Amino acid sequence: MRKKVILITGASGEIGHALVDNLAEGGDCELVTLDLQELPDAAARKVKRHIKGSITDKMTLDAIASEYEIDVIYHLAALLSTRAEVIPGTAHRVNVEGTLLLLEMAAEQSQFRGKPVQFIFPSSIAAYGMPDLETKAAYPRVREWEWNYPTTMYGANKLYCERLGIYFSDHYKQLSEERPTTLDFRCLRYPGLISAFTVPSGGTSDYGPEMLHAAAKGVPYHCFVRPDTSINFMAMPDAVKAALSLAAAPAKSLTQRVYNITAFGLSAEQFRDQVVKAFPGAEIGYQIHEKRQGIVDTWPMDTDDKHARRDWGWQPDYGMERCFEEYLVPNIRKRYE
Ligand code: SER
Repeated sequence: MRKKVILITGASGEIGHALVDNLAEGGDCELVTLDLQELPDAAARKVKRHIKGSITDKMTLDAIASEYEIDVIYHLAALLSTRAEVIPGTAHRVNVEGTLLLLEMAAEQSQFRGKPVQFIFPSSIAAYGMPDLETKAAYPRVREWEWNYPTTMYGANKLYCERLGIYFSDHYKQLSEERPTTLDFRCLRYPGLISAFTVPSGGTSDYGPEMLHAAAKGVPYHCFVRPDTSINFMAMPDAVKAALSLAAAPAKSLTQRVYNITAFGLSAEQFRDQVVKAFPGAEIGYQIHEKRQGIVDTWPMDTDDKHARRDWGWQPDYGMERCFEEYLVPNIRKRYE
């Protein structure tokens, strides 16, 4: 008999870190992780097995599928928006082709065991594309189906993979006489995420967390977007809570497969104010990177998450003040002490 596990791809990344901790605490099912990097020791002790490899390698995925019965997949591996613009072809191979291989694996496993494999997928505010700042101001809280015109490779990859997930869940092999049991795709559109314990790499919402971590370390920081640049953000514990809550929701309560979730919207200047309040000596200036600015300008100011609230009781624990005062600042202080 194969052993039943939860598979986490991209487990060494920012969300992965936090998710492994939480799932290991729950302890219902053993964890198998996959990442190009090693898992840090503390996390490695919490998982049944870590596989150092790529989601684009079908042989690796086949080996995992032959050994384990996968109950849930948290598919976190991806190249983020800034990095994806540097190597767009690779981004497509990882973000789209890697996701396709995993979806195929999940579909086969679902059919084999006669029970859907749950597939939890993080999408992003990058799936939106506001054409200009006037439109961005005129539609401050976008709904899931509005302004789906991403201008980045990463955003296009995420939006398309949302569609692929829906295809595999609801329309896979739609011409066959007997529809197979297929997977259960559930997706969250995250805002910019901020962790007290890790610094992001390769994203374009990174100016927020970067200025905070720089201030805590006592090093100067030059924010690469204008002070008035506004998007929404979320504390990492809320990001993890959202993924776990969506996974735990009964299928019959879900009316869609892709959900916005948000915690608080704020401008770069308001972000800076929070950082300076906590670290009064912080040296944070602005050195605008026009191209990265252009990307953030296409992302909405905030998203409307009423469907997530209605269908699976989503509610963030951390609004802006609580996020800084109770989660970020005390933990970051400790980290760099
Ligand atoms: N935080 C991501 C990025 O900046 C967006 O999802 O790429």
